[in-house]
Amino acid sequence: MSTTPMKRILVIHGPNLNRLGRREPDIYGRHTLEDIDAEIIAAGRDSGIDVQTYQSNHEGELVDRIQQADGEVDGLIINPAAYTHTSVARRDALQMLAIPVIEVHLSNIYRREAFRHHSMTAAAATGQITGLGKDGYLLALEALVRMTADAP
Ligand code: DQA
Repeated sequence: MSTTPMKRILVIHGPNLNRLGRREPDIYGRHTLEDIDAEIIAAGRDSGIDVQTYQSNHEGELVDRIQQADGEVDGLIINPAAYTHTSVARRDALQMLAIPVIEVHLSNIYRREAFRHHSMTAAAATGQITGLGKDGYLLALEALVRMTADAP
């Protein structure tokens, strides 16, 4: 009897998200990144998914991690944080991936300053969830579980 390998999902957090909980809590909430990661990992476990998480404040390191994800995981959740609005390098890296990618933002970027209204990443993502706080990550995970489910 053959067993299907466990699905793997990577969650990437961009710059300053390591400061969640202390960083502008009225906008980003009071949960730390560790709280959020633990919740996503637990939700993944409940769905039989192996969730890995990664955070970096450095654009090149984020590009490296996105490149590594190719062939390593079945789906990617990414909050590119400030690089959402600026990074062509990160968008190009996402564009190369053959797996589904969900862009997540804790805050609603379209209700904030005009410079946050444009996402460089969105066109390279399968979909985007913005403004639902940490639940956005859990909904993204649920969407990826459905998208990557094996046909019966
Ligand atoms: C963010 C929104 C970005 O505009 C901002 O630079 C962030 C966080 C969010 O999750 O709401 O760092 O991606």
